[in-house]
Amino acid sequence: MGRVSVNNIELEQFMKTEKEVIDKKLPIYIESLQSPEKLKASMIYSLEAGGKRVRPLLLLATLHGFSKPLEIGYDVASALEMVHTYSLIHDDLPSMDDDDLRRGKPTNHIIYGEAMATLAGDALLTKSFQLISCSEHLTSERKVDLIQRISRAIGPEGMVGGQVADMEAEGKSLQAEDLQQIHERKTGDLLAVAVEAGAMIAEADVEDVQLLRQFAQHVGLAFQIKDDILDIEGDEEELGKPVGSDEDNDKNTYPKLLGLDGAKEKLEYHLTEAKKCLYQTSTNHTLLKELADYIGSRVN
Ligand code: IPE
Ligand code: IPE
Ligand code: MG
Ligand code: MG
Ligand code: MG
Repeated sequence: MGRVSVNNIELEQFMKTEKEVIDKKLPIYIESLQSPEKLKASMIYSLEAGGKRVRPLLLLATLHGFSKPLEIGYDVASALEMVHTYSLIHDDLPSMDDDDLRRGKPTNHIIYGEAMATLAGDALLTKSFQLISCSEHLTSERKVDLIQRISRAIGPEGMVGGQVADMEAEGKSLQAEDLQQIHERKTGDLLAVAVEAGAMIAEADVEDVQLLRQFAQHVGLAFQIKDDILDIEGDEEELGKPVGSDEDNDKNTYPKLLGLDGAKEKLEYHLTEAKKCLYQTSTNHTLLKELADYIGSRVN
């Protein structure tokens, strides 16, 4: 996954092993589909381009925290990575952020054209729900619950709503609470539902689910604040995507609102709050704590 700044040996091993599992599974879900070859190629292109697999890792680390076998979460973890990948393909389109580099490669529309890129995104999104509904490791009741939570998190009240608000705010000056709401929706909600899904699959009690949700909401916000910081301070080659995209699009970001130092303080604040919630749960929280620290210190 490029250069990884991970301090903890247990997390480093976990990330390496589980990223490999997810990397291997993703194209397999697509290869056997009875679909046009070019559509499959376009879907697989973005899935295989790389990516840190943070959302699957959050789900799997949550399962690990409850001492559950990780096998029961692979389908949902992979589905969340498909959703995330669709969101990136669409986010990069000329009509959105208009970026030409993603995960170290030309963006999907540069290779396959805008129409195919749009459809590959649509196909990844719909396939993700098929995957969850067909999982052999979950009861029907659990699947409906997961689909309800995930669809809320990524739909008009969540990620898509956040992307629209982000786009509509271009060129305007937002108040802190409006910017926070955009970041919570466009990025935080999917990260939060990854942890929530892990807790649901692990059959965690209501109190733990609630605390883990709060943990993940802070982590989600921290994740996008770090993304904004990296858009200024990052190295394009290491990031695998352009730096300066936010400025080019006159986006509202934490560094723009608070300055780089202010944004870094906010990042630390949310990581501290996240850990306070985590420590109140009954889980073995080592991996989730280390994952939160990794999210705050990552270089890509
Ligand atoms: C980038 O997400 C887009 C945001 C939501 C900020 P990631 O930083 O997780 O991108 P990949 O999956 O590793 O490429
Ligand atoms: C993207 O935010 C959020 C989603 C894709 C939902 P950004 O536009 O900041 O993500 P990058 O920087 O292009 O990865
Ligand atoms: Mg964007
Ligand atoms: Mg973007
Ligand atoms: Mg960004």
